[in-house]
Amino acid sequence: MKPADKKAYDKDYAQAKKTGKPFFPYAIYKDTVIAGLTVIAIIVLAITIRVEVGEPVNPATTDFIPRPEWYFYFAFELLKIFANQNVLTPVIMATFMVPNILIILLVVWPFIDRGPERRIWKRPFALGLTVIVTGMLCYLTWLGANSPAGVAKGALPVSGLDEQATKGMAVYMANGCGSCHMVAGVGAPGPGPDLTNEGAKGWDNAKMIAWLKAPKAPMPSYASLPPQELEDLSTFLNGLGTKYK
Ligand code: HEC
Repeated sequence: MKPADKKAYDKDYAQAKKTGKPFFPYAIYKDTVIAGLTVIAIIVLAITIRVEVGEPVNPATTDFIPRPEWYFYFAFELLKIFANQNVLTPVIMATFMVPNILIILLVVWPFIDRGPERRIWKRPFALGLTVIVTGMLCYLTWLGANSPAGVAKGALPVSGLDEQATKGMAVYMANGCGSCHMVAGVGAPGPGPDLTNEGAKGWDNAKMIAWLKAPKAPMPSYASLPPQELEDLSTFLNGLGTKYK
């Protein structure tokens, strides 16, 4: 800090000390009032706006696509940003690396920012960083809230399906493939690859059925499905992006 700045700062500080209000009781009183109002607001909200009760739990379901609470939507979106590299990267980055880097930054910030200036408008860098990080969290939360990944039931937005492929799509939906895969923007961003253009790989049904029966981990084996369902499912998958779009 330049000596001139320090002088101006000291003057400001002395002035503030002369005219300002003391910590006790003024600041303590203000804190108590605001904290009290916050607690009352929470109690009133808890009484007036009840938590919504969803469908009864069905432990046998296979097509349930879990969705996080809204305050985790940003982490949910982070998972997608790091998706499709390998299975663990999204989990490590979105649930460990990024949040912990932010928390560590918060803890070490007083040691990095050594300036005596407290007023936020005199600290454009800190202010800018706060605005950017908060803005990013809000944007990711908004993206998460509007993400199509929660659509588990019904049909995928794929057209041109013939009878067998329609049955295959039903098998796909019924077996929870969409909790690891995405087709035409519907489903989970990972850990499995996006299957929107799976048909472009030119696999035949025998090769697809062999994969479904003995896939690489973490994809589970579907060897227990009836042969006809495996055939229908393979027809559906092998036409995705080519016959069925
Ligand atoms: C637990 C998560 C998970 C589930 C559930 C799952 N998969 Fe997968 N799937 C994966 C992963 C991960 C891969 C990539 C494996 C690899 O190549 O190492 C994969 C790969 C595939 C591939 C090959 C994709 C390619 O282009 O390489 C197909 C096809 C596929 N899955 C179809 C399905 C179908 C159909 C279902 C439901 C019957 C299903 N998966 C259920 C995780 C899953």
